[in-house]
Amino acid sequence: AYVITEPCIGVKDKSCVAVCPVDCIHEGVYTEDGKVYDMLFINPDECIDCGLCEPECPVTAIFADSDVPKEWQHYIQINADFYRNK
Ligand code: SF4
Ligand code: F3S
Repeated sequence: AYVITEPCIGVKDKSCVAVCPVDCIHEGVYTEDGKVYDMLFINPDECIDCGLCEPECPVTAIFADSDVPKEWQHYIQINADFYRNK
């Protein structure tokens, strides 16, 4: 699945949402260990790995899960956890 990472926080451009063919990108707030993630999240169970969203993001927040920069690896879990119990 593709993953949204730190640069989305506070930007939320939403160009990614406009191109996603399966509507698996949603806005929300996720809180963990006192840090607030106010951003958009990709549902890993619904993402079909088409890659269309990645070049659309003006702040380069989107990566394939195999390609997430080291400092943002925890966003793989954060995107998944946002959708847990939904
Ligand atoms: Fe949607 Fe495709 Fe991006 Fe997955 S890779 S979130 S299916 S646009
Ligand atoms: Fe965020 Fe980039 Fe989408 S800023 S809302 S990941 S286009």
